[in-house]
Amino acid sequence: MRFTLNGVPVSVDVEGEGARRLLDVLRETVEMTGTKEGCGEGECGACSVLIDGAVVNSCLVAAGQVEGCDVVTVEGLAEEDGQLSALQQAFIDRGAAQCGICTPGMLLAAHVLLRENPKPSVDDVRVGLAGNLCRCTGYTKIIDAVLACRK
Ligand code: FES
Ligand code: FES
Repeated sequence: MRFTLNGVPVSVDVEGEGARRLLDVLRETVEMTGTKEGCGEGECGACSVLIDGAVVNSCLVAAGQVEGCDVVTVEGLAEEDGQLSALQQAFIDRGAAQCGICTPGMLLAAHVLLRENPKPSVDDVRVGLAGNLCRCTGYTKIIDAVLACRK
């Protein structure tokens, strides 16, 4: 099974991997552990990744479905030199993460939101992050962090 992960071609050559959840193959087979598991049932968005640019819950995707696709995890949001992206830094600066389980998914959803709408309103951010649940912070700091990255 071949796909691109954060811009790097990946070949997963283990029998039976294609039927496993993408979430598990990312975390356990290719050891890209930024992607988190929350509910495991498609409800919380913690496991969000980008598949060909769209936010997808990786707990609901069989790994074999990403054959030939471009997959981006939270690690792929960092700059090429390894620096955190402005959005990642804004989450830190504004205390928008506590346990961090929701954070990778929030960051990916916010990244797509800002890509599609560089000047979102508060309501736009709420709608854009509606598929991502946080049990820790409340949403004010998360929304503030996204708003800080408006262009
Ligand atoms: S762990 Fe996938 S949506 Fe909750
Ligand atoms: S920071 Fe803990 S679930 Fe959001």
